[in-house]
Amino acid sequence: MTAPNARRPRQLRIEVLRHNPADAASVPRLQGYELTEAPGMTLFIALNEIRETQDPSLQFDFVCRAGICGSCGMLINGRPGLACRTLIQDMDPHIRLAPLPVFELIGDLSVDTGKWMRAVGERLEAWLHGAAGADVDRMEAPMDPDLADAIYELDRCIECGCCVAACGSAQMREDFVGAVGLNRIARFRLDPRDGRDDGDFYELIGDDQGVFGCMTLLGCQDVCPKDLPLQTQIAFLRRHMARRGFGGG
Ligand code: SF4
Ligand code: F3S
Ligand code: FES
Repeated sequence: MTAPNARRPRQLRIEVLRHNPADAASVPRLQGYELTEAPGMTLFIALNEIRETQDPSLQFDFVCRAGICGSCGMLINGRPGLACRTLIQDMDPHIRLAPLPVFELIGDLSVDTGKWMRAVGERLEAWLHGAAGADVDRMEAPMDPDLADAIYELDRCIECGCCVAACGSAQMREDFVGAVGLNRIARFRLDPRDGRDDGDFYELIGDDQGVFGCMTLLGCQDVCPKDLPLQTQIAFLRRHMARRGFGGG
C-alpha cells in the first residue's frame, strides 16, 4: 500500500548547454533530457543516469561525489554550485545546466578549473616560504590550537571555482585572482611557519588583479559550498593594506 503522503515520482527535464570546443563543427546548443526522479536523487545521479541510458557523449566531471574534490561545479539554473551536493527534490523539475564561466571549456559541463587555479597559485606563490636559511625550529614549533583552527577553516577551500564563476570582476578581467586567491593569501598570512611578512603578501595582492579588483559584489560568499568567510577575509586584507598605504593601480 502506498503511504498517504508519498509523492509520485516526477518527470524531470534537464537541459544542458552543450558544446565541444575541440570540434570545429560543434555549435553551442541546449539539449533536453527526460528522466524520472528517484528518491534522494542528486544532479550527479541524474547526469550519470542520462549518460548511462541516453547519451554516452555527455561530458561532465565528478570524482568524490561528496563535496570534497571540487570537480563537479556547474551553473545550476544560472547559479554556480556542486552537482553532487544538489538534491533534485528541492528544485523545480525543469532544470537548466551550463558550464562554469571564466574557466576554459573542455566540453559540455566540463571545465578546466585546475589550469586556472594553478596559474593563480603560482602568481600568488601559494606555498609556505621558509625564512632565509630554512628556520627548522620555527617550521616545527607547536601551533596554538585556535590559530591552527583558523588556518584549517580557510584550508577547507576545495577549489571548485564556484566563487570565481559568480564574480563579476573575474568575468570582466581574466587576471583577477578572485575570492579563492585572496582566501589563499589570507591563509598563508595567518601561518606562522611562513617566512613572509605583511608587506610581502600585500605586494602580491595590492593591485587590481588582487584585493583592489574586488568590487564587493558578494556573489563569491553566497555560492561557496564550504561557507568560507570570504567577505571577512577580503575586507580584512583591504583594511590592513589601506592602512599600510597600498592603494591599488
Ligand atoms: Fe569553491 Fe569556496 Fe574555494 Fe571558492 S572559496 S573555490 S567557492 S570552496
Ligand atoms: Fe567578486 Fe566576491 Fe569581490 S564576488 S567582486 S570577489 S566580493
Ligand atoms: Fe567531488 Fe562533487 S564530485 S565535489
